[in-house]
Amino acid sequence: MKKIKIALLGVGLMGKQHLKAIHSSKKASLHSIVDINQKSKKFAEKYKVPFYIKSSYLLKNNKPDAAIVATPNQFHEKHTINLLNNKIPVLLEKPISDSIVKAKRIIDSSNKNKTHLLIGYHRRHNSIVSKIKNKISKGQLGTIVSANVMCWLYKNKEWFKEKWRTKKGAGPLGINLVHDIDLICYLLGPVKSVQAFTSNRIRKYEVEDTAVVNFIFKSGALCTLSVSDTIVSPWSYELTAGENPAYPVTNQSSYFIGGTKGSVQFPNLKHWYNKGERSWWKPIYNKNMDVKLSRFTLINQINHFCDVVIGKTKPKVTGSDGLISLKIFDAIIKSSRLGNKMPIK
Ligand SMILES: NC(=O)c1ccc[n+]([C@@H]2O[C@H](COP(=O)([O-])OP(=O)(O)OC[C@H]3O[C@@H](n4cnc5c(N)ncnc54)[C@H](O)[C@@H]3O)[C@@H](O)[C@H]2O)c1
Repeated sequence: MKKIKIALLGVGLMGKQHLKAIHSSKKASLHSIVDINQKSKKFAEKYKVPFYIKSSYLLKNNKPDAAIVATPNQFHEKHTINLLNNKIPVLLEKPISDSIVKAKRIIDSSNKNKTHLLIGYHRRHNSIVSKIKNKISKGQLGTIVSANVMCWLYKNKEWFKEKWRTKKGAGPLGINLVHDIDLICYLLGPVKSVQAFTSNRIRKYEVEDTAVVNFIFKSGALCTLSVSDTIVSPWSYELTAGENPAYPVTNQSSYFIGGTKGSVQFPNLKHWYNKGERSWWKPIYNKNMDVKLSRFTLINQINHFCDVVIGKTKPKVTGSDGLISLKIFDAIIKSSRLGNKMPIK
């Protein structure tokens, strides 16, 4: 089978993870690396591929079959549209962009060029997520009433040495909770409105260290998402799913979704229910949901991207999905500032 040759733009924290994922994928090979920082050339040397300092140089030469854009958010529009205009399918890191206007231009470009765009919300490529999605879709939990999503973790001093991480937009809402927003919307459908409260009481940086967000879904279900990077706790997807070996994994859960017939917790998958009559007076049982934790979501994502490139399947996370989570993120920030409930249009 011919491997899909993928160029990587941006070989920072996330780009390095993509390098490993491409290397481990049976469907992909690394075509080249583009990075504005000359020091990144060492990665191209390691993998014996061409190195370019600008994406325009990449496009003048032997073009790749596809590309991953893992540059800082403010460059997503420029890099992605450039590639799409050259009919190169793109796996674009989350968030789709740093502005809704730019995000729409990226989506328009993908449509105009009839070239695929996949957004890097990689959790959706975890088999436990598909299992939960199926359970909800089949009505096994009854009507979904409410959900609780926890994203509590403790970022150490080292993390804040990069000063941009103490500034607005770089807090746990934008870095961590955006993944949870995408995932809970995938599981429970479109959001009608949001309300949020933020605090920087502990770290006192410009950016929030803690936030509580409420969603009303169009279905009528309610959800609370709680995020903090200053609580010592195991209850976040990061510390429970085992996707990234950099985090010590626990057997806890961070998602709790409840319906009129039962509820589920995950990543430590359990389905809770009554046998016979549903009642708080009756014993409640749990069934372990027979799926192994999938630690390879980035590789799964690359494999899926390759299938998209050869036309075998459609993107699991589209540009429109990326735009929706960006709109919700924007509404959360506005709500926390104004104190209002914000509609999602
Ligand atoms: N999916 C995830 O879980 C996840 C995790 C972390 C970051 N991200 C996303 O990945 C992207 C990159 O984040 P990061 O943390 O890796 O950042 P980073 O700062 O560690 O790396 C960015 C890289 O891009 C390069 N770069 C900067 N400007 C460039 C340009 N104009 N042209 C080419 N290269 C350029 C830098 O030299 C650097 O190597 C962001 O969109 C971020 O939101 C996603």
